[in-house]
This record gives sequence, structure tokens and C-alpha cells, in this order.
Amino acid sequence: IPDIIRTKAELRARVADWKAAGETVGVVPTMGALHQGHLSLVRAAEENCDRVIVTIFVNPKQFNNPEDLENYPRTEEEDAKKLAHHRVDMVYVPGPEEIYPEGFATTVSVSGLTDVLCGAHRPGHFDGVATVVTKLFTQTRADQAFFGEKDFQQLQVVTRMAADLDLMTEVVGCPTIREEDGLAMSSRNLLLSDRARIKAPVLNEAMEEMAEGLRAGGEAHELRVEARKKILAAGFTEVEYLDLRACDDLSVLDTPTRPARLLAAAWLAGVRLIDNIAV
Ligand code: PAJ
Repeated sequence: IPDIIRTKAELRARVADWKAAGETVGVVPTMGALHQGHLSLVRAAEENCDRVIVTIFVNPKQFNNPEDLENYPRTEEEDAKKLAHHRVDMVYVPGPEEIYPEGFATTVSVSGLTDVLCGAHRPGHFDGVATVVTKLFTQTRADQAFFGEKDFQQLQVVTRMAADLDLMTEVVGCPTIREEDGLAMSSRNLLLSDRARIKAPVLNEAMEEMAEGLRAGGEAHELRVEARKKILAAGFTEVEYLDLRACDDLSVLDTPTRPARLLAAAWLAGVRLIDNIAV
């Protein structure tokens, strides 16, 4: 089981030794409740970097809903055990004071990209993500950081932020890992009841059908009607968005005239699920 480090000072000391030896450092930022999606990022880090740090921090600043923060799964011991099967040099689990000390007053805010999709429905969410990820990059001094396409908008936001702020950490995107029935793996899937879990893959099914329709020349504003119907009929209570968007700037498209992604967020039994696929 890899060493668990809880302070910025100890993290810094270890990383300084690695850097002095000329070793490259990869970081995988997470909020814990690790699953195969997270572990695929760990594998990518192992393949690309001499040293691997996994961070686990349930970041209060990115939760726009206190109940969601309260209910977020916390499984530190099991997480550490899962990482024992990997070449992880350190698990960094900072206490809140290591990230947001008394008097903390700075926010990193990326404009444009964060106005739409999850940004429109979760006010402050991406400010919270950008702020904590900046701190995790500078605290770990990582050469590369590995993020999942599962959170496609987040991947775009942190890529933009790292470039804009000349951060020394390169953002690397990795493909979405799914359950056998197509449901994108997510820590939040743990919050689904058995009954809801059976219905959950309908989101991805409806998206795949809509993507087929788009590839066949259909238009998003028409195909969306059928897809929404299917998702709601399965027992989802709300479809927040189901949009075709350009990969680079997330602008709305009706047909995939340039590299595009179909992105969705929907509520099932009180749990907010998101997914996205290439078209
Ligand atoms: P979390 O939801 O724990 O996800 C951590 C990383 O795992 C993110 O880069 C996410 O995109 C990736 N991931 C999650 N599910 C995945 C899947 N099914 N396949 C591939 N990758 C997957 O995202 C966050 O935490 C936080 O916002 C964080 C970046 C840690 C900042 O607090």
C-alpha cells in the first residue's frame, strides 16, 4: 500500500528529492471513491512518468450544493488498497487547511468555456475546480496531469487554464471507462439504488442512438426530442442538457460540421449523471 501523505510540507520534500534526481512526476487528481476510470488514469501516469502521485481531496469549493458535498462517497481505506496494485509512489490526501488555509482569498476563474453546460447548471463549480487544480499542480510540481474525458468540459477548462497561466504541468486527456452495460463509471454511481442502477445505462443508449442519427445526417434539435423522451420514459426525472457541441470551444452545433461531442447531464433518483461521446 503506497504512502499516504497529508501535508504540503511533506509532499514538497519528497517531490524535491525526485526532481533533484531528474525524475518526471505525474499526478492524477481525484476526489476518491476510486473506480476503474480513475485507475486507467493511474496506468497512463505510470506509463508516461517516473513518479506517480494520486491526490484525494473532496474539494468543498466545487460543490454548489451542501447536501451533495455531505453525501459524496468517502472510502479512503479501500482507495489506498486499490492503489496497492499500481506503481503509485504517493497518495496525497491533504486536510482542508493544506489547500484553503485561514484567510485564503484567491479564485481561478476561466471565462467562456465555463458559461455553458455544467457551468450554467452548477454556479461556481468550475471556479472551484480551476482553483483546486491550480493548487494541486503547483503543490505537486507535476510535469503531467491525467484527466478523464468523462468530464469533457472539465478537461477543456483545465487545459485552457494551464495554458493561460503558463503552469508547468501538461494536461493529458484519457478515454472514458464504462461498465459493461455502457454506463460511464463514476463515484456517484455508488449513490444509485439497485433499481436506479438498472435504468442508468439508458442515458448512454439514448446518446449512442442520437449520435448514430447525427452521423446519418440528422439534426440535433430534432434527434434530441426522441432521445429525451427515451431517457425520461426510463425513469430519469430531468434532462438538464443534451447538446451537440464543438470539441474546441463548446459552441452549439446542429450538425457535426467540425469535431463535435454529444454531451448530457440528467437526474436519476436524486443523482446527477453526466456523459459525453464523440460524434
Ligand atoms: P473525480 O470525479 O474523482 O475524477 C477524477 C478524475 O477521474 C477526473 O479527471 C475524471 O474525469 C476522471 N474520471 C472519472 N470517471 C472516469 C471514467 N469513467 N473514465 C475515465 N476517467 C474518469 O473530477 C474530479 O474528481 C474533480 O473535479 C478534480 C479534478 C479532482 C478536482 O477536484
